[in-house]
Amino acid sequence: GPASPIAIDPLRAVAKELKFLTKNIRQLLGSGHPTLDRVAKYYTQSEGKYVRPTLVLLMSRAAALAPKEPRQALPIGQHGIDAPISPPTLLSDTNPSAPDLTPLTAPDDSLYAHDSGILPSQRRLAEITELIHTASLLHDDVIDHSLSRRSAPSANIAFGNKMAVLAGDFLLGRASVALARLRDPEVTELLATVIANLVEGEFMQLKNTANDETKPVWTEDTLSYYLQKTYLKSASLISKSCRAAAILGQGSSEVVDAAYAYGKNLGLAFQLVDDMLDYTISAEELGKPAGADLELGLATAPLLFAWKSHPELGVLVGRKFSKEGDVQKARAIVASSDGLEQTRALAQAYVDQAIEALHIFPESEAKSGLIEMCTKVMKRRH
Ligand code: FPP
Ligand code: MG
Ligand code: MG
Repeated sequence: GPASPIAIDPLRAVAKELKFLTKNIRQLLGSGHPTLDRVAKYYTQSEGKYVRPTLVLLMSRAAALAPKEPRQALPIGQHGIDAPISPPTLLSDTNPSAPDLTPLTAPDDSLYAHDSGILPSQRRLAEITELIHTASLLHDDVIDHSLSRRSAPSANIAFGNKMAVLAGDFLLGRASVALARLRDPEVTELLATVIANLVEGEFMQLKNTANDETKPVWTEDTLSYYLQKTYLKSASLISKSCRAAAILGQGSSEVVDAAYAYGKNLGLAFQLVDDMLDYTISAEELGKPAGADLELGLATAPLLFAWKSHPELGVLVGRKFSKEGDVQKARAIVASSDGLEQTRALAQAYVDQAIEALHIFPESEAKSGLIEMCTKVMKRRH
């Protein structure tokens, strides 16, 4: 509705911080190579929604008021939240002295209000989450053969696949440098795990189904496979960066776990709504092609729910909607089913759990902001 002068925008708790985000990110992405510099900064031209940095900053402020207590960093490889992964083999660096032609400059913290409750390390974490997210979009647009993003040609179209891939790698490299400079091994482990999780999620999506049959049948595994993929592809970054924000703020174990639970549930809801919008919203409103998932052969939540009551979808899923007319047929069945309502209900259930996780945080403007983000996720149209 119309803005009332007394209405408080809970997101204003971090609005000032967000104003400097793009500038700082562009600084992190400076390269002496002019073309690389241009491609790497391409997606910073049209500001995204900044969902992830906003969540990190709000969580940082909310956690600043919550109980703090020294906590033991969790043992290596055991965040206690995901299945442990085997330790990597360390390779010796064969060229340890490669010159850094464009050294990173430290962020100018004098720009910020000192009473915000947000630490410079948490601000930098917010920037790192956006860098990792943007890197994944650069690669995703190559994999998905995207034509547009944020209402402009996607980077793969504007610069070609090779440059888009390299630019994504460069963003990951710079994100890693910024992460290392936080000098917090547990936070480094969390965010490095996110990068691996994004790739694992993308792989699960390419395989697309738990069973490799020509005509898969719906089972309870169908949904859990999809949700695991969704966690890895979308919720991992949000949950682990919320957790990292609480760790940097010296939060107690309860606060750190609550931050993670909030991010995980909100992240799952966020992607469920994304998958719903792919069916319901026009390309113009989305700023990227609509109905893209079926064209890509992807069966997301609305279709999986429809499949449960329409077994004939199995054969289409099995051939990834590749036969002439498959996409239209699947779309019609989804529209006639309650798949979209069920997807929305599941997203709402996750959002409710996200809000529930916040109960240990004392009331604050930032906590209201975190709750408001849940409402926004459910209401969003792009
Ligand atoms: C967008 O999904 C893509 C992701 C959330 C992650 C993609 C991950 C990779 C490509 C793995 C590589 C990761 C890194 C960190 C380089 P979408 O295609 O469903 O959404 P869209 O409609 O916005 O394209
Ligand atoms: Mg895509
Ligand atoms: Mg994709």
